[in-house]
Amino acid sequence: MARLILGVETSCDDTAAAVVSEDLQVLSNVVSSQMDMHARYGGVVPEMASRVHVSEVIPVIDQAMTKAGVTAADLTAIAVTRGPGLMGSLLVGISAAKALSLAWKKPIIAVNHLEGHLASAALGADRPTYPCLVLLVSGGHTMLASMAAPGRYTLLGSTRDDSAGEAYDKLARLLGLGYPGGPAMDRLAKQGQDVLNFPRPMIHDGLEFSFSGLKTAVANYVRREPQYDIKNVAASFAAAVMDVLVAKIERALEHGHFASVAVVGGVAASPVLRDRLAKLSERRAVKVCLPPPSMATDNAAMIAAAAWPQFIAHGADALDFGADPQWKLPEAI
Ligand code: KG4
Ligand code: ZN
Repeated sequence: MARLILGVETSCDDTAAAVVSEDLQVLSNVVSSQMDMHARYGGVVPEMASRVHVSEVIPVIDQAMTKAGVTAADLTAIAVTRGPGLMGSLLVGISAAKALSLAWKKPIIAVNHLEGHLASAALGADRPTYPCLVLLVSGGHTMLASMAAPGRYTLLGSTRDDSAGEAYDKLARLLGLGYPGGPAMDRLAKQGQDVLNFPRPMIHDGLEFSFSGLKTAVANYVRREPQYDIKNVAASFAAAVMDVLVAKIERALEHGHFASVAVVGGVAASPVLRDRLAKLSERRAVKVCLPPPSMATDNAAMIAAAAWPQFIAHGADALDFGADPQWKLPEAI
């Protein structure tokens, strides 16, 4: 039987567990979302998130093991998100993973959530070829990285202020679309027109991003024009975000040699972005790899996937690591 890692992810508002083999076959991928509960408050309430993780984490792990058809004896190791994320939420997954590591006598691997997203590029039908240019667009982060091989990357640029997903969520809230904003904004964007000429911040500058100016421009517009057409606002905002994301990918492709492009993180679930990437792939004759939408948003399969190269290169971690809510990715690894 192939070697298997059980991944556990509780960094924000999803309780997730997955079993992934060394050749990155996903045997199970279970996500218990708290979205409906937090939606009532317009965003994630950290104290409530950690309480729900406490009651969900063991049942979710149980389900992941059952769906994969494995028992503890079949596992090679357990991987868990150490950060970045919410302190209380991270601690629940870490405590559960450590307890199982001791009880089942399995090594443990502490994984950076962002490395998890980067590794999710390899979980789609079409696997990346290396070197791969990876764009990570999630609620917490927007960054470009060059991946020489699984687990080996160099950061090329990140956002100076808001992430793309954060801009989506904040504007969706302003427009009364609830939380999380991405999917709702996307649905409206498809029905509207890009006619409002919102700014494309830093589109002609390097590989860094900035989305707070765009967010402010949209907010000012809806305050100035109370009769605004919400579909056109959503379409014009999404078009501005997508233009910037695609322009940065194109600039990186012009300045470096890449065998493929991967786009990961929650915003990679966006059909608007997926359409744009299909066009980019044709125009540039470059392979574009995407995780399935269920592995673009937070999940544990990506945590197990990121753990494999780490485990193979350095072995397991000592059991005394703590949560690291601000854990930054190193510039290069
Ligand atoms: O990666 P993720 O699940 O969590 C973080 O690590 O942040 O990303 C969540 C972000 C949210 O900002 C959400 O609005 C956005 O991804 N998102 C989307 C879509 N689905 C989720 N944005 C645009 N279109 C979507 N369909
Ligand atoms: Zn995430």
